[in-house]
Amino acid sequence: MDIEPGQIRVFDCAGRSLAVSNIDGELYAIDNLCTHDGGPLGEGQLRRGRVVCPRHGATFDAKTGKVLALPAVRDVAAYAVAVEGDGFYIDCPGVAGSDDPNTVRDTEATVMADEPTDR
Ligand code: FES
Repeated sequence: MDIEPGQIRVFDCAGRSLAVSNIDGELYAIDNLCTHDGGPLGEGQLRRGRVVCPRHGATFDAKTGKVLALPAVRDVAAYAVAVEGDGFYIDCPGVAGSDDPNTVRDTEATVMADEPTDR
């Protein structure tokens, strides 16, 4: 698994950018787009199960996407993550027009996460 406990990383799933957290060995995925002003949550910090937006400090529950602190007031979506062997799959809704599958293995996601995106 490419994400160590206590870490958060960005993955792409069917054109959707996700922030994936490892909390005590369990993986959780939420949208990588802060509902305040579009900050990249996966580039923020993971503190005691909470994701802190790197832009203005809004806080979200890394497991459920529930907003916990201002300035954001709306939750972000959360997605199921299934661990299988050394890899994992994320069940995310596809983005219209994307040719990518709506599940992603970590090896594929790692490559995509390293590529620049225009979002
Ligand atoms: S963009 Fe996330 S707190 Fe402002």
